[in-house]
Amino acid sequence: MDMSATAAGARRIDLRSDTVTRPGPGMRQAMAAAEVGDDVLDGDPTTGCLEARVAQLLGMDWALYVPTGTMGNQVAMGLVTKPGTELYLDALAHIVHTEMAGTALFWGVQIRPVTPRGLAIDADDVRGMLRPPGPHALRASALAIENTHNSAGGVVTSVAGVRALAALARDHGLMVHLDGARLWNAAAALGCTVAELAAPVDTAMVSFSKGLGAPVGACVAGRGIPVALAREARRRFGGGMRQSGVVAAAALYGLDHNLARLPDDHAKARRFAAAVDGKGGARVIPPDTNIVMIDLAAGGDAAALATAIAGDGVLVSPWAASRLRAVMHLDAGDDEVAHAAHVVARHLARSAA
Ligand SMILES: Cc1ncc(COP(=O)(O)O)c(C=O)c1O
Repeated sequence: MDMSATAAGARRIDLRSDTVTRPGPGMRQAMAAAEVGDDVLDGDPTTGCLEARVAQLLGMDWALYVPTGTMGNQVAMGLVTKPGTELYLDALAHIVHTEMAGTALFWGVQIRPVTPRGLAIDADDVRGMLRPPGPHALRASALAIENTHNSAGGVVTSVAGVRALAALARDHGLMVHLDGARLWNAAAALGCTVAELAAPVDTAMVSFSKGLGAPVGACVAGRGIPVALAREARRRFGGGMRQSGVVAAAALYGLDHNLARLPDDHAKARRFAAAVDGKGGARVIPPDTNIVMIDLAAGGDAAALATAIAGDGVLVSPWAASRLRAVMHLDAGDDEVAHAAHVVARHLARSAA
């Protein structure tokens, strides 16, 4: 539970993100006990154990531990794209909006945003954007898929959907990256394995600092690409870490203890969504996973509303001008979520009055 006291002494429920969780006693104990070495020189045993485990879970040739999901995505961008080519991506993808133009800056790639007809891109959306070859047509090198899709409300792309996207990409000579910061949630929601969702892609990134509750860390993984290239890119970004076992142990703890409970977060999201949907004319994207997007009625001001809601001890994110985001996680228990939903619903109703 994130029940940290505010200055006024009132309880605070933080639903801005699933990244706000704090390592509990069990995770901290695992971190303190981690066997460590110098991962850049000759390997850190706990990091090696995490990388082997993640490679096996994803069914990839290798996995490499990186400090953040953003670095993992950017390492992968270096592996699947080529300078002076295009990268197809969902128009609301994290790589487009939240990675500080890294793909353009580091890898010389033009992003070609694909606006989905539904919530997340499918093969037909991408097919409609492919440029017919010709003297004026810029070549594309890669397609990236985000699963779950954060900005679309944690929506999942099914195994069949991922296969169709990857098959289309292959037919057009594109490599495929999977931004799977919340792939664990996607697999839990779909009742499949992360390996099934990663099977058709060349590179994948999975994060430990979201639903799994670790303080930091992600893995980038690949198949058919030398791991040495990924190591080189990680090093270039300053991501070669030394006794990284201390934090890798938190990721291993998250896999052991927090993976199986992700459906609880999805259930909380459904209950939260049901409690706020329609209040004050707001509309909720029915949540597939742990993210609840609330679209305000016309004229609604998400920033002002988030500030007002925070005054009652509940933190949600103003995600866009008229969209709020609330994310369920292991530090917000059922009672806190019920209370937060009640507070948000009350503010929504009041804002429309
Ligand atoms: C879909 C997606 N990809 C990548 C990231 C980046 O992860 P990090 O914050 O660890 O850099 C996030 C973070 O929220 C995300 O939601």
